[in-house]
Amino acid sequence: MSRVVVTGRIPEAALEKLRAEHEVDAWAGPESISREELLRRVAGVDAVVSLLTERIDAELLDAAGPQLKVVANVAVGYDNINVPACTERGVVATNTPGVLIDATADIALSLILMATRRLGEGERLIRSGEAWKWGMFFLLGSSLKGKTLGVVGMGGIGQATARRAKAFGMEIVYQSRSEIDPAVASELGARRVDLDELLAVSDVVSLHCPYGPATHHLIGAEQLAAMKDSAYLVNTARGPIVDEAALAAALRDGIIAGAGLDVYEQEPTVHPGLLDLDNVVLLPHLGSATVETRTAMAMLAADNALAVLSGNQPPAPIG
Ligand code: DGY
Repeated sequence: MSRVVVTGRIPEAALEKLRAEHEVDAWAGPESISREELLRRVAGVDAVVSLLTERIDAELLDAAGPQLKVVANVAVGYDNINVPACTERGVVATNTPGVLIDATADIALSLILMATRRLGEGERLIRSGEAWKWGMFFLLGSSLKGKTLGVVGMGGIGQATARRAKAFGMEIVYQSRSEIDPAVASELGARRVDLDELLAVSDVVSLHCPYGPATHHLIGAEQLAAMKDSAYLVNTARGPIVDEAALAAALRDGIIAGAGLDVYEQEPTVHPGLLDLDNVVLLPHLGSATVETRTAMAMLAADNALAVLSGNQPPAPIG
């Protein structure tokens, strides 16, 4: 029997799966585990099942000790894990790709609709108790049909978002490190372009690339200025891909028309410049937040941990 620490609450089915084979210490507090408590609890464990809110760095790996075999993140994004530090110590790092594609693409499309159709503004107006009535020019948004969606990062979530947008009549361009499956490109009628062209031609830019040094502030003042002043920016990937201060200024000054965000640069803090603006929709990192998806993520993380603990290749190793 190995020792497994789980850094936060995960669906019971995944805990049961882990408990069937190993001794499991799962943090069950309503708040996130403190760093101090986490460092104490990982000492001597063989596996860490981590949530994206916990930083898995060299200090934590050393606090765990040389017997540590696997860090299984319950997320597809793994910017909370120092992967080279894991590799140096012979620790396998894993994530949960695939299972959250549809849930996250649903939220991206929701943000596109909310931002372009001013749904947040409408909802706030009704709840404010202010008088309103139907009017020819009342809360006009902009239509999606015939407009262009620019997808930055055309992996599974980018493709699923493009598929949804196509169903709404949008044209698709994308920027990606590599060409996508030609059958998918032709199904979507998607054209690969560089970031400059994507920013210039898109009516909605949706971010789906991983976060890392290469994508830190990929969208800053210069890129926002390169977008149409009628365009919208949507981010369901990771907050620091966007320079939030520059975005707040661009939204305030009409450099772009609007934005929809599910992730933040200093999560859970939101840049104060965004909070007062009507042309930005703000969601609290709900991309994968469905019962089915969170269960699938936790089960995949458990499978990853169990595979490594029994000396097998995990289903979703990072890298
Ligand atoms: C992920 O898995 O990276 C998502 O951000 C979780 O919602």
